[in-house]
Amino acid sequence: MSFKKQLDRRRTFGIISHPDAGKTTLTEKLLLFGGAIQVAGAVKSNKIKRSATSDFMEIERQRGISVATSVMAFNYRNLKINILDTPGHQDFSEDTFRTLTAVDSVIVVIDVAKGVETQTEKLVEVCRMRKTPIIVFINKLDREGKDAFDLLDEVEQKLNINVRPLSWPIGMGQRFKGVYNLYEKKLILFNPHGKQNEEDIIEITDLNDPRLDQQVGKAAADELREEVNMIEGVYPKLDRQDYLNGDISPVFFGSAINNFGVKELLDCFVEIAPTPLPRTTEERVVRPDEDQFAGFVFKIHANMDPKHRDRIAFLRICSGTFQRNTNYLHVRQNRKMKFSNPTSFMASKKTVIEQAYPGDVIGLYDSGNFKIGDSLTEGEVLHFKGIPTFSPEQFRYVNNADPLKSKQLAKGLQELMDEGVAQLFTKELNNRKIVGTVGALQFEVIQYRLQHEYGASCNYEPVNLHKACWVSCDDPIALKEFISRRKRDIARDKDDKLVFLAESAWTLQMAQENHPKVQFHFTSEF
Ligand code: G4P
Repeated sequence: MSFKKQLDRRRTFGIISHPDAGKTTLTEKLLLFGGAIQVAGAVKSNKIKRSATSDFMEIERQRGISVATSVMAFNYRNLKINILDTPGHQDFSEDTFRTLTAVDSVIVVIDVAKGVETQTEKLVEVCRMRKTPIIVFINKLDREGKDAFDLLDEVEQKLNINVRPLSWPIGMGQRFKGVYNLYEKKLILFNPHGKQNEEDIIEITDLNDPRLDQQVGKAAADELREEVNMIEGVYPKLDRQDYLNGDISPVFFGSAINNFGVKELLDCFVEIAPTPLPRTTEERVVRPDEDQFAGFVFKIHANMDPKHRDRIAFLRICSGTFQRNTNYLHVRQNRKMKFSNPTSFMASKKTVIEQAYPGDVIGLYDSGNFKIGDSLTEGEVLHFKGIPTFSPEQFRYVNNADPLKSKQLAKGLQELMDEGVAQLFTKELNNRKIVGTVGALQFEVIQYRLQHEYGASCNYEPVNLHKACWVSCDDPIALKEFISRRKRDIARDKDDKLVFLAESAWTLQMAQENHPKVQFHFTSEF
């Protein structure tokens, strides 16, 4: 198959949701459609969590949750679809954010009863920043939930996106009859437990068709007519380009556990979702159809085997063809490297691959050479942009608990930070170290891993902080004055960048007001 064909058949996306909205269940159903897994009937969602997603870290196995992100691929209608899993459990980590830098579009799953929840808001905010195209799937229609119109309003307001429903529910919960597919003009009748038959899909181009009344009853049919009328009047037609620009998001309704509405979602996805998109570097824009290979590392997964401290660096291919056993330039280290066992992921299977194409994510075995954001090219010096570090939300002082192991602690902390597990800030005033994370679970992960992988032990001390902001200023005198006035709140990140540690939203606001020339940034890239 030609390079162009390989490129055109790839779609790389992530599914994001608040925990329990049904992301795992939806992923599983999509994989089933693609034949990537063969499991009959309703499989417990946890099962796939354990088998198909990353099973690498001991700590993950212990806790029975996936702490890190994994990659799954499947074929559907001649396309190769890569799903990058964005862990959405209560205590998600920066990995979740960073994975969004490696996708070309996302599907957002929302629980019909709970509506838009906090983690979804945070993750969609990152998508909006990057103008990532979004499709919304409203899940669990087999249960009672919020009114569909209210829900769309909530999605628009809380997620700050414009929506266009492409399917519409007929009742919900006990009264759930099915959905009307607005763009294919088909009625799809609901049958619990995924037993959807050919005869459950009925083409009804005109809603006045009496077959609608026969199928769902007169009351439900009339309600649908009225609602569809409103939709056509209120929401604009879906323009694919608007979707690709991130300006409008199609919405589907369904029930993942019953495999209902999932095929419609997938069929629309393969039609409208973008092929691998160009990526920006400090030097230039890298287009996927370029001959020369280039890619970046967006995630590092460590400790597959605690005895060998080996890691997998996840590389997103941005242009050209990646070949096994070929010398590539590790740009930051300015040296050639080749990989004998690059891995691809097809659901639960990991296989060594010979080639990979833009949009693909491959795993490279690594003994400590990679950091998040590193690029690999055929020789050109490229630094990919848009892989920022986000301001953490939880902070603790980290202390050495075993004076004989201070070297191990320093090394362990350094390596875990390179991996992107958390962020380390060193206070200018007293050299004390502060660990910042996005979720509280990360503190335990760090403590556990320091002990098991590095033989070092640490303890934490509370520190009262609201945000860490990267600061910059064009005026060196103003910057100097800021640093000297706020000495106690100044720290350096692991790359020695200047950081302001704000105790509260109010201190941050005061600092901004008192030092108008200084700029405060909430991500490390500005
Ligand atoms: P997550 O990955 O977003 O955290 O959610 P997950 O798929 O694990 O789903 C969370 C719970 O919601 C699961 O129930 C799952 O079975 C259920 N669920 C998913 N889709 C639907 C749906 O369309 N309708 C209904 N009624 N439930 C749905 P659980 O009891 O937590 O787990 P399990 O014992 O079923 O595995």
